[in-house]
This record gives sequence, C-alpha cells and structure tokens, in this order.
Amino acid sequence: MFTARPRRNRKSDAIRALVQETRLHAADLIYPLFVTEKESSPIHSLPGTTRLSIVDLLKEIERALKLNIQSIALFPVIDGDKKDLFGMEALNPSHFHQKALSRIKQEFPKICLISDIALDPYTKHGHDGVIDEEGRVLNDPTVEILAKMAVVHADAGADMVAPSDMMDGRVGAIRRALDASGHSTVSIHAYCAKYASAFYGPFREALSSTPKGDKRSYQMNPANSREALLEAQLDEAEGADILMVKPAVHYLDIISKLKEVSKLPISAYHTSGELAMLLAAAERGWLDRDSALLETTMSIKRAGADMIFTYAAPRIAEMLREG
Ligand code: PBG
Repeated sequence: MFTARPRRNRKSDAIRALVQETRLHAADLIYPLFVTEKESSPIHSLPGTTRLSIVDLLKEIERALKLNIQSIALFPVIDGDKKDLFGMEALNPSHFHQKALSRIKQEFPKICLISDIALDPYTKHGHDGVIDEEGRVLNDPTVEILAKMAVVHADAGADMVAPSDMMDGRVGAIRRALDASGHSTVSIHAYCAKYASAFYGPFREALSSTPKGDKRSYQMNPANSREALLEAQLDEAEGADILMVKPAVHYLDIISKLKEVSKLPISAYHTSGELAMLLAAAERGWLDRDSALLETTMSIKRAGADMIFTYAAPRIAEMLREG
C-alpha cells in the first residue's frame, strides 16, 4: 500500500504550471469604460475608476491596448437635463455617446467595441425602459426603442451590442433590426441571466442612475437558477451570440450551469459593487488587493466564463504580463 500524495503535483513552480487547469489571458478581459461630455471625474465608490472625457477615454484605450486588452464596453454618462421619461436622447445619432463610439472605432479599428443597449443612462427614473403612470416598466414599447438604439450604435461602429435591460424578446427584435439595416455582422452580447442585485451601486453612482424603486420586475430573483436556463434558451433561440451572467462572483453556479447547457460562449460581469467590496477591504489593509483580484478573476474563469467584464482589467493585465 502507498499513500496517495497529490502534493507531488504541487512540488515546484514548473510542476504547478504543468498541472494548472485554468489560465487567464489579457485577451479574456473586457474593460468597461464610462464616457462623459464634461471633464473627467472620479467615481468615489469605485476607487481608480473615472468618468472619462473623450480625450482621456482615447488615452485610456491606448493604455489598455498596450496591455493586450482587446475589448472594451462603453457606458455613457448623460447630463440630467438630457434625461427624460422615455430616454429619447438614446436615439439621437449625433449625441456624444454615438460620436464616442465612432471616434473609438476610427482611432482603434481593431478593438472589439461593445456598446450598451439599455435606457437607464437616459431616463430620469433610472429604469431600463419606459414606464407607465403607475411606474410599471413597459416591455414591448421599450423593446422597440432598444432595437432602434442598436441600429444607431451599429451605424456608429459598434462590433457588438450588449442589451443589459432584461426585457422579454429584445434579443430577437435587435437581431431583426440589425439584419434589416445591413448589420448582419454585428453580434449580440446578451445580458442573459442578469440578477436584481445589490452589487451595482458604484455603477449607478457613476451614471446618476439609481432607480426609483427596484428592478425586480425585470431583473432576475437572486434565489433562482433554473430560470437562468430558461433565459439562456430564449436568448439563444432569438439569436444571441454570447450569453452573459451578471454579477459574477455571487453567481458562479449560474456560470457553470450555462456553460453546460449552451454551446455559446459564456461571459461574466464582475460588477462595480463586487469590485468595490474588494477594494475597500484592501484599502483598510484587510486583504491584499492584487492577489485578491487575480484569485477572483481566475475563479470566474474556472467556473466557466470565457470572457470577463472587469474594471480592474488594466491592473490584471499588468500582473499577467509580469507573470
Ligand atoms: C443597467 C446596467 C447596470 C449595470 C450595467 N448595466 C446597473 C443596473 O442594472 O441597474 C451594472 C454594472 C456594474 O455594477 O458594474 N443597464
């Protein structure tokens, strides 16, 4: 008889590297960026993250590219006086959001440019859709606007549109609208299992989009996992190219399940609140920021995510380069 010794495979750096099952690459990372028409300004609840003026945004993308980050997701910060009940500014093709998309594509043609499709940056009430007098978020009228918005973004140069709203039927409507307008090569990166989560706080600070009430009538109940499979089935049937789970760390089981049931690539969003929590503890010296960041991001990939949205993408890419 002999003693089983799994420690033999942990004996040295070289052996540990041979048996390592999951590896992170800068190319797995999607870097979410906030663009503003005004001067750049820090987002207090997410240290190190900034609302960027267009000039600073272009510089930041250049820095990211040098670190081998190849994909970015753009979120616009809209002035209060441009917000209304219906998010109409979202369809204005000469709006700075659209201009920023085309400018990025002009300057960095090879980058994968992902644009957010949802009304919350544009509505006074902060909901992802239009509402009726009772404050109910209306599904089909919202979907009509989202489909038009996707075409405006595709015209501006988006490679992927990412509906983050959770209305029913929007993936199909966006696919039809893109195809009908000559954008059959533009992909749909669907926020498929997006939960009504407490971990979106700093993002909402960034956009001044904290909603009246909550989003539980369209985002998923954190208690549910079979429902994520239903969402995946529908988004896939409607023509999604990539399925996203959001948040990531608190929903690793959902990432694994979607990876098992779908043949589509799986994406996960390490959200602003999930990152803020880690940064706040690191600021107090309660944990080591860099190793916590790597472990967190690695866990998301190990669970089954092929790609990860993270505001910490540049720091992670730097660490990966350093090895
Ligand atoms: C809304 C949207 C949210 C995030 C991305 N898109 C917030 C929300 O649903 O209220 C959150 C991202 C993050 O917290 O990092 N369309």
